Amino acid sequence: MSKTILVTGGAGYIGSHTLIELHNAGYDFIVVDNLVNSQKESLYRVAKIIGRNIPFYEVDIRDAVAMDEILTLHPVDACIHFAGLKAVGESVSKPLEYYSNNMTGTFVLVEQLRKHGCKNLIFSSSATVYGNPAQIPITENCPKGQCTNPYGQTKSMLEEVLTDIQKADPQWNIVLLRYFNPIGAHPSGQIGENPNGIPNNLMPYITQVAVGKRPELGIFGNDYDTHDGTGVRDFIHVVDLARGHVSALSAIERGCGLAIYNLGTGQGYSVLDLVKTFERVNRVPIPYRILDRRPGDIATCYSNPSKAFEELGWKAQYGIEEMCRDAWNWQKNNPNGYEQADY
Ligand code: NAD
Ligand code: UFG
Repeated sequence: MSKTILVTGGAGYIGSHTLIELHNAGYDFIVVDNLVNSQKESLYRVAKIIGRNIPFYEVDIRDAVAMDEILTLHPVDACIHFAGLKAVGESVSKPLEYYSNNMTGTFVLVEQLRKHGCKNLIFSSSATVYGNPAQIPITENCPKGQCTNPYGQTKSMLEEVLTDIQKADPQWNIVLLRYFNPIGAHPSGQIGENPNGIPNNLMPYITQVAVGKRPELGIFGNDYDTHDGTGVRDFIHVVDLARGHVSALSAIERGCGLAIYNLGTGQGYSVLDLVKTFERVNRVPIPYRILDRRPGDIATCYSNPSKAFEELGWKAQYGIEEMCRDAWNWQKNNPNGYEQADY
């Protein structure tokens, strides 16, 4: 019998892509999402791609009563926990909302999972927990650093909380996945990243310039100590990232206890590398202007992902060209994201 996974935040960018990979790997799932940063349309589209309906509850994971009811109705084998607020800048102006949503949400979720006898959890963490990394490429042994914003603090603190929970009760299997920079979209062009308002992150900004929604890209600084002066990141195709969660489930099934993995490609590309690759692959110009550095940014951040390969057999398959191709394929077919529902 196939296993059932609770996917919190499953209507969001990474969650929606993960549903497809779960389906491909033979898992059943249910989705809980309050749609604070997503649309139901993403789930309709996933349902169309995988050819089956998706059990969905529009619920805030902080609602213990509702979560109790859902887990009573659907016993689950594991939970992949994406639900959270993620905008770094917004977290600085709305710290209470971020701490409440991300911390309390996780507390309520974990309590409800425990109550219902499910002690298997995959948590969406971030390379942001390394702060300004002490070593490059970053291994999981790299000491955690200073987080400069409430969003990053919630990820770092929740890692500690979940570690303590697993230590106190070794029946828990908890995988902390530290994502690097997810970009791109499902190759179908049906689902992708759909930010509200002005994008904070680089790739959705580039695609909105490409589609004519914004006149030019602002590049935050070209005086970093990198090969061309612009920031260097470990961009990873969102489908590869999604598959990393399926691999992490197999670790849980083997009884991994607490495990931490970087999910990145191990390759660092600069902002200008990404812009130039996007232009070349898609034959679309991306006008840009150099601006001041963005406060809180670091020069270079890329992973050593070999632990995930050695222990999970997971390795990113897609390169930066495919990331650019698929990001553009999504944006050009859906210039207004999910607003243009086609059914
Ligand atoms: P997203 O905003 O697209 O998805 C998060 C989903 O969670 C949204 O659908 C939102 O509506 C939902 N949600 C938020 N709070 C909720 C609540 N209280 N109850 C129910 N649903 C709630 O973001 P994403 O890019 O898919 O990120 C998924 C996870 O990965 C987040 O935890 C994020 O912090 C983490 N992460 C993302 C990145 C990135 O660059 N995208 C990098 C590192 C880590
Ligand atoms: N950048 C620009 N112009 C933009 C947006 C970004 O030049 O309009 C630059 C940034 O200065 C940085 C690079 O592009 O050098 C990447 O910036 P993003 O905002 O896309 O991503 P970050 O690396 O800053 O942060 C991302 C996620 C965080 C996460 C972090 C580490 O947004 O949630 O990766 O995983 F914590």
